[in-house]
Amino acid sequence: MKYFCLPKNAFIRTYDNYGYIIHQFNKKEFRFNSIGAVFLNQIKRDIGNIDESVNNMCVFFEEVDYHTLNHDFREFLSFLESNDLILLADSKVELLRKNKSYLNSPFHSNRIELNNSFDIESELENVDNTVAERFQFDPLKFTFHIELTTKCNERCIHCYIPNNEKLNGDFLDFEVIKKVLDEVSAANVLNVTFSGGEILMHQELIDILKYAREKDFIITLFSNLISLNEKHVNLLKEINPKLVQVTLYSTKENEHDSITQVKGSCFKTKRSIEKLVANNIPIEIACPIMKGNYKSYVALASYAQSKNLKLNTDYNIIAQSDFDQQNLSVSLSLSEFEEHLQDILFVNKLYGISTEKEKLDSIKIKELNSNVCGAGSDRICLTSKGEYIPCPAWKNYKVGDARKSSFLDVMLNSQENKYLRTVKNRSFTKCLNCDVSEYCNICMEKNFNESGGDIYYINEEYCNYIKSYKRILRSNRSITIESFNQES
Ligand SMILES: C[S@@+](CC[C@H](N)C(=O)[O-])C[C@H]1O[C@@H](n2cnc3c(N)ncnc32)[C@H](O)[C@@H]1O
Ligand code: SF4
Ligand code: SF4
Repeated sequence: MKYFCLPKNAFIRTYDNYGYIIHQFNKKEFRFNSIGAVFLNQIKRDIGNIDESVNNMCVFFEEVDYHTLNHDFREFLSFLESNDLILLADSKVELLRKNKSYLNSPFHSNRIELNNSFDIESELENVDNTVAERFQFDPLKFTFHIELTTKCNERCIHCYIPNNEKLNGDFLDFEVIKKVLDEVSAANVLNVTFSGGEILMHQELIDILKYAREKDFIITLFSNLISLNEKHVNLLKEINPKLVQVTLYSTKENEHDSITQVKGSCFKTKRSIEKLVANNIPIEIACPIMKGNYKSYVALASYAQSKNLKLNTDYNIIAQSDFDQQNLSVSLSLSEFEEHLQDILFVNKLYGISTEKEKLDSIKIKELNSNVCGAGSDRICLTSKGEYIPCPAWKNYKVGDARKSSFLDVMLNSQENKYLRTVKNRSFTKCLNCDVSEYCNICMEKNFNESGGDIYYINEEYCNYIKSYKRILRSNRSITIESFNQES
């Protein structure tokens, strides 16, 4: 083998003392020590020559002879090749041919596997934690969320964005976006999500996404897709997102349209989903569950299954970011929630596709000294006004301003972010003696919006849901165990 290049679905980040590579679809990921980092630094999307790379690296390994280094580098490349993380060939022509067939080949499935293998190289002793410690976050796990606009072509009844912002809101300035993406890229962050409002309404979307691609981010997009056109499809093919998350509330047109308050929106969203599936663009369906659609959840799951798409549902509705709570009236009542939970269990058994299953599988006793969530450390959101907030709906908790401070300055020095990092499970005194806490995900953004600004607010009604949740899941488990015992 003489030549190599990084294929479009593999992404590399290197730090002083370790290097990282990940496949954006099958999520194979490896973390290497400092030697691996030097090797990874040689790998680019352009064609590289193995012998030339070894020559370049000799200065880093003065005590190693050329042949040993050459052998080790080739072994390293073969290992990456066996994990679909690099392309190797004897000639440039062959490499170009391989790269072309890689570009044209469908990624393995539209449905992201639920049980991804998570491989970490064992030589971790030398890993330098200073990056994570200095920034107090792991740039690899960090998600940078950009709200491109609050304008929207739908008026969803549950939406946390107030309607006046959908009508009169801002479009985030491209110059601010470029400045911020430069800063985020310099901090070696890997994941960037673009959302809204409706991203397809931003006039400079094409340039914005192309800029993000130039910066080599793993890109995720949230959209209702009702205004998707051929140009967008071509753009998506070009920028190769990890995921387009599209919101579909129901496969029944009247139900979906009465949530979005836009006639014909269900038809358009479904048509766009099918268009993206046909074009082999990775998508998932998102669906907040509420009064108007919970009865159709099983049908929606069946639709998702028929298209081989993952379905993300959530019954937690967050109050509007301006503290108006009128949107909460669409939330499920306790009895509706219990009915929905039975449907989730049914769907899991039938299709095994609901994200609720992942949540159920990950239930564990809470560490009192652990952080409540990643707010302030593993995520941040840039609003369409250019302000930083911890999470997309948490608009009245500003942690910085992109026009005045750099991304790292906000992450490191913002008093509000620093404060969020001090909030631990034990800070919620009302929860200390709760016997269902392992089933509960406290959400400070939700508490804040629901209470007019108190992150420690506990909604007793919500606690009743969690009690039901535990009771129903427990009884479901015992049913499963009973039937297993009977069968055996
Ligand atoms: C804010 S929207 C932006 C992207 C795009 N407009 C869409 O609807 O997919 C992102 C997701 O948040 C969900 N969402 C909106 N308001 C919500 C709320 N109050 N509580 C929970 N989820 C909400 C939407 O249904 C959608 O799935
Ligand atoms: S949920 Fe999305 S599509 Fe619906 S109004 Fe909000 S931003 Fe618009
Ligand atoms: S159910 Fe209520 S009391 Fe229990 S942990 Fe959750 S918020 Fe706290």
